[in-house]
Amino acid sequence: MNLTQQTVLLTGGGSGIGLALAERLHAAGNTVLICGRDAAKLQAAAERLPGLRTLVCDVAQAPERERLIDWAFAAAPQLSMLLNNAGIQRTVNVFETEEPWATTANEIAINLEAPVHLTMLCLRRWHAQQHSGPVVINVSSGLGFVPLARVPVYSATKAAVHSFTQSLRHQLAGSPVQVIEIIPPAVHTELGGTDHSFGVPLAEYADDVMQQLAAGHPEIAYGFSAKVSQASRTELDASFKQLNG
Ligand SMILES: NC(=O)c1ccc[n+]([C@@H]2O[C@H](COP(=O)([O-])OP(=O)(O)OC[C@H]3O[C@@H](n4cnc5c(N)ncnc54)[C@H](OP(=O)(O)O)[C@@H]3O)[C@@H](O)[C@H]2O)c1
Repeated sequence: MNLTQQTVLLTGGGSGIGLALAERLHAAGNTVLICGRDAAKLQAAAERLPGLRTLVCDVAQAPERERLIDWAFAAAPQLSMLLNNAGIQRTVNVFETEEPWATTANEIAINLEAPVHLTMLCLRRWHAQQHSGPVVINVSSGLGFVPLARVPVYSATKAAVHSFTQSLRHQLAGSPVQVIEIIPPAVHTELGGTDHSFGVPLAEYADDVMQQLAAGHPEIAYGFSAKVSQASRTELDASFKQLNG
């Protein structure tokens, strides 16, 4: 894929994998737009990356998603790539939790509803524009293939993102739209507010994603996620036991 003249809308670009990819896409000469809930993180990114466009936006809310797409296409009508990266990960005991349903619904909305809705909104725009080569990139997880039981809703949303991305790719075969899935393994970020220091170093991981994007891989996996995304059912069951003890 040509990774020098894209105009990219990347959700959750203020930190972690999203910020690392935004930095690399920016350095490669692409126009980059990012969103997130935390204005300070977005501002810090904008100060370091000249020309970066930012919007404070909560992708859990459908009207906010519509506002995001209106803003992005107004700011950059040539928008060519949607990178659905924003995500949260919550530890939940489904039997013992006394959280209100809204807390779980919010996790599902950020991780699953947002990429589905934002994809549909962009596809409509690109169809109307007769765009010659747009790209949708969804970020799933190795845990979408092998659930980590202590993050059950997260794991389920990531399995659904993988499933949706497969269907999307099939439906859009023969259209100009490319559909790519990034399947991270554990990466050292602040995801879930838990210690992810056991994960792959962020810079090493983001460099690999950029190389695989440039090489045109439709599924971008690494380490653990490369293993489980190709595993047989027997191997997946063994990985589940190993992961969950
Ligand atoms: N790190 C890993 O081990 C790992 C493994 C597999 C998959 N992933 C996936 O990789 C993606 C990035 O995660 P990360 O590890 O980089 O975690 P991170 O550092 O916590 O980044 C997540 C980003 O999403 C944004 N975000 C969260 N909720 C949002 C909302 N409602 N609206 C807009 N933005 C929102 C956050 O910004 P604000 O807080 O400012 O909103 C943040 O910038 C996620 O989809 C995650 O599931 C990560």
